[in-house]
Order: sequence, then C-alpha cells, then structure tokens
Amino acid sequence: VSLAPYNTFRFEHKAQYFAEIDSLDLLTEALRWAKHIDIPVTVIGGGSNLLISDEVLGLVLVNRLMGKTAEVSGDSVLLQVSSGENWHQLVAYTVEHQWYGIENLALIPGTVGAAPVQNIGAYGVEVKDVLTRVQVLDVMSEALEWLTAESCGFAYRDSHFKGLWQGRYIITAVEMQLHCLPSYSLNYGGLKQQIQGEVTLAKVFDAVCAVRQSKLPDPAKLANAGSFFKNPIVNAEQHEELKRRFPNLVSFPFGEAFKLAAGWLIDQSGWKGVIHKGVGVYDKQALVLVNYSEHKADALLELESKIKQSVLDKYGVFLEREPVKLPAVDAMASIVEGGI
Ligand code: EPU
Repeated sequence: VSLAPYNTFRFEHKAQYFAEIDSLDLLTEALRWAKHIDIPVTVIGGGSNLLISDEVLGLVLVNRLMGKTAEVSGDSVLLQVSSGENWHQLVAYTVEHQWYGIENLALIPGTVGAAPVQNIGAYGVEVKDVLTRVQVLDVMSEALEWLTAESCGFAYRDSHFKGLWQGRYIITAVEMQLHCLPSYSLNYGGLKQQIQGEVTLAKVFDAVCAVRQSKLPDPAKLANAGSFFKNPIVNAEQHEELKRRFPNLVSFPFGEAFKLAAGWLIDQSGWKGVIHKGVGVYDKQALVLVNYSEHKADALLELESKIKQSVLDKYGVFLEREPVKLPAVDAMASIVEGGI
C-alpha cells in the first residue's frame, strides 16, 4: 500500500502491511497478528508530522479511534478524547462550548493522539499545559493503562513517546482539563494586536487561525509537515556571542538558556523561497519545507542537509529535525548493531 494519502508530505513510500483501526478490539487483534508473524507495528495519526523516507516494513496502522466525553465540575471540565479524533475539530468544539485552554492550538493539523507525542505547541501554549493523563495500550502486555502527564517527559516538542518509550505504547485516548471561566494566553507573537475590542474566546480562536493561515501553507494545498526544524536552544554564553556577531538575532529566553528562531537563521542564510528539485523552502516562513512534486523523500533529505550545513557554518548552531522519520532511524540502527 502506498502511504501517500497518509502523510502530508505526500511521499509515496509503501507500507509492507496496512490497516485502518477504528476500535480497541481491532487494535488488539492487529497487534496479536503482528506479534504472531513477528513483525514491527507502526501507528500513524494524521501523518502531518511525518517524514516517510523509505518503505515501512511490518504493519502500519492508521488510527481512527473516535469518541469523546466531557464532565463539567465546578469551574473546569474534564475531557476524554479518543486518539483518532481530529485535533483542530476538537479545538473548535471546545471553543463552541466556551471551554478555555486550547484555543491557541487551533489549526494544528493531525490527530488528538499525535498531540502528546511531540507536545504540540503554538502561540505560548503547549498541550502539556492542559493534559492530565494519556491512555495507552502497552504493546507487550496488551493492557490498557492511564499514564499521568507528569510521567510522560514532556518538553519543548518532545516527550517519552518520541524517545524512551518509542514502540512501547500506542496512545488510545487523552484526558485534558480545560477552564469554564475566561483565561487567555495572549503574550506571544502579536496575538493581542490581532484582536479588536473586548477579548473573547471566539476572537482568540479566529486570530490564531488568521495568523497561521498567513504564515503556514495548508497541507491540503501544498504538501508540508509544518515546522521542519525545532527552534534550537543555546546557553547564555553562546547566545551572548551570537548576539555580538549578529545583533539582529531573533531569540527568546528559555529558562536559563535561549531559544533561537530557526526560521530566522535559515532565512538569513539565504534559503527562503529556494527550490531544490521538486521540493523547497516555503517563501513566507523559512522553517517550513514544502513538496511541490517529488514522489520520494530523497530531494527533501538533500535539502535538509544543505540547510543544516549552511546554518552550522554561519552560526555554529545545529538544527534538529522536528517531524518523526519513518522508518525510524533507531530501528535501523538497532538492526545494524544486531548484525555486528
Ligand atoms: N523568522 C524570520 N524568517 C522566517 C521565519 C521566521 O525571520 O522565515 C523570525 C521572525 O522574526 C519571527 C520569528 O522568527 O518573528 C519567529 O517566527 P514565528 O512566530 O513564525 O514562529 P516560529 O518560531 O518560526 C514556532 C513553532 C510553530 C508555531 C509558531 C507560533 C517550532 C519549531 N515552531 O515557529 O509551530 O506555530 O512558533 O507559536 O517551535 C510546528 O511545530 O509545526 C509549528 C508550525
């Protein structure tokens, strides 16, 4: 099966075996079958943060687990949402119900289950700020468990699901606590200036949608996976040195350290709008790589390493990729290690 419809870069690499899963029973059945014939299982959601660069061996499952419940108690609401639900539709639903907390995360593509994996974030809010628990199926024991948010290792665009726990759990639902009384986060990225008159939940939601639409390409129209690199974090000393050499450097305090705007580094290195074969750097936001016409990921990987090299040469800063790569590098590395 070609995975082209299941990743927003629209790369056509194949899955060895493939199924769409819309119930927990089906999920358990698929897992048992894969274990029986001894093949790995990879679960994908909306495919909007994936870089598929080769055939994915084993069984690829597309998550279509649906459903949600909401329980209001006092000034807050506890939402439990199945992992195959669409993230943006969930945000719109919470805004309709006047529940505050995830409106800044409007228009992020992908599923609810993918949200904790990279701890999605935008405009000063991260999903970890509202998550209370994550429900998972333990691949080995087949037990369904609720993990507390504190145990998930959430950090900037990172969690144990992306690292330590890769392959161990399948996320089946998330639980989040939202506010029923107004509470806004408007201090980032000129969001406040976008809103006329009295601030309301609907206006914040609309402002976020407008800002995103002006900067980020719609994956339905131009294939991409959002930010392709993380904003790199440097220590105070490195930051001072960079600021001295490049007074216009765009950076934000991040704890004791500083986060640099990778988009600015790439832009200043001359990459904005550059086209390489059938892929390129988006002309309104240099952090986003787009696929105009390639069927395979090779040209994109070439462009990635050229960008990384030139930012490293000019700024001495290493850019880390943001989307998850399939097949996982770690899996290949472990096969190689096993062979030695
Ligand atoms: N900038 C440039 N040139 C560019 C792009 C950016 O000079 O081509 C500079 C501008 O000065 C701008 C600053 O970089 O003010 C920051 O840019 P922006 O506000 O667009 O945010 P970002 O840091 O590039 C991050 C997230 C986005 C998220 C926005 C808003 C990461 C890797 N990306 O981008 O997340 O929407 O902030 O919160 O942290 C994603 O993860 O896929 C994503 C789109």
